[in-house]
Amino acid sequence: MNNFWQQLDKPFFVLAPMEAVTDVVFRHVVANASPPDVYFTEFTNATGWVNAGEKAVAGRLDKTDEKPIVAHLWGSDPDDIEKLAVHCAELGYDSIDINTGCPDKSAIKSGGGAALIKNQPLMAKIITAAKKSGLPVSVKARLGYSQIDEYKDWLAFLLSQDLAALTIHLRTKSEMSKVPAHWELLPEIVTMRDRIAPRTLIVANGDIEDRQHGLEIVKKYKVDGVMIGRGVFHNPFAFENKPRNHSKDELIKLLHLHLDLYEERGDKKRKYETLKRFYKVYIRDFDGASELRHQLMQTKNIDEVRTILAAQGL
Ligand SMILES: Cc1cc2nc3c(=O)[nH]c(=O)nc-3n(C[C@H](O)[C@H](O)[C@H](O)COP(=O)(O)O)c2cc1C
Repeated sequence: MNNFWQQLDKPFFVLAPMEAVTDVVFRHVVANASPPDVYFTEFTNATGWVNAGEKAVAGRLDKTDEKPIVAHLWGSDPDDIEKLAVHCAELGYDSIDINTGCPDKSAIKSGGGAALIKNQPLMAKIITAAKKSGLPVSVKARLGYSQIDEYKDWLAFLLSQDLAALTIHLRTKSEMSKVPAHWELLPEIVTMRDRIAPRTLIVANGDIEDRQHGLEIVKKYKVDGVMIGRGVFHNPFAFENKPRNHSKDELIKLLHLHLDLYEERGDKKRKYETLKRFYKVYIRDFDGASELRHQLMQTKNIDEVRTILAAQGL
């Protein structure tokens, strides 16, 4: 098995899975701005795909140039997870990741996402099923469901599952994203890893802004890698090696790239409205940014966006 995780230079940097954000288009834009070392897809439901095929996954597993790429799956049926994981291997994905942190009510009701924290026997079956794909398997986990202390048992269990990597979003499901991430637990988690699963890579996640910040976390807590999510909203260049101020022109160029790629895909898998959440990524930190953003938020299609930009010589 080709396990890219073991070949990564440490520390490595990962773009977090973010539903309706880190799609094929945005991953390409981030790669263009300053590439991470590893990409994750948005989360993709195995049972939805088994029952309804491509229609149900709405482009989440479309061909992507950004590599290595991890297919981030969720579900509660091991057979379905196995089928989709095997399909991902056929599509050329490099690894499978299982979501155990999604706090969404419908995911929990169906027994997937964060509900798996309370069902270790099922989680073990899901991991075994994903491994049938022949790809390395990792897990993205929270500390626990409602109590921080759950991490001792929950993460020890996950570490006993022979995973390629374990990403820990350092909050419980109940904490959502409302409290600061509990980085202070990392030394104990790393010690647990050294004792239970020395080959499993530990990836820290939660409130890490950019590569420089990540390097501080790595130095202090000795994790192998860092995953960054919302940081790219505030700075699409979050992964760059040598941070510098980026000009308005550079930001607008990224916006044009995003619009062009969205249009090229031309598949209408995502409505125009879904593009609006990206305008704040590119239209920021320059004179007149908030007025321009306001104007773009009133638009109904890409042509209107281009007309507004052209009128300002952008
Ligand atoms: C818009 C959005 C969508 C997200 N979607 C997912 C997802 O599909 N799967 C997942 O495991 N986490 C998801 N997350 C959580 C992030 O991957 C990450 O764990 C969390 O935002 C904390 O990291 P950060 O502080 O670097 O953003 C999402 C977060 C955001 C803001």
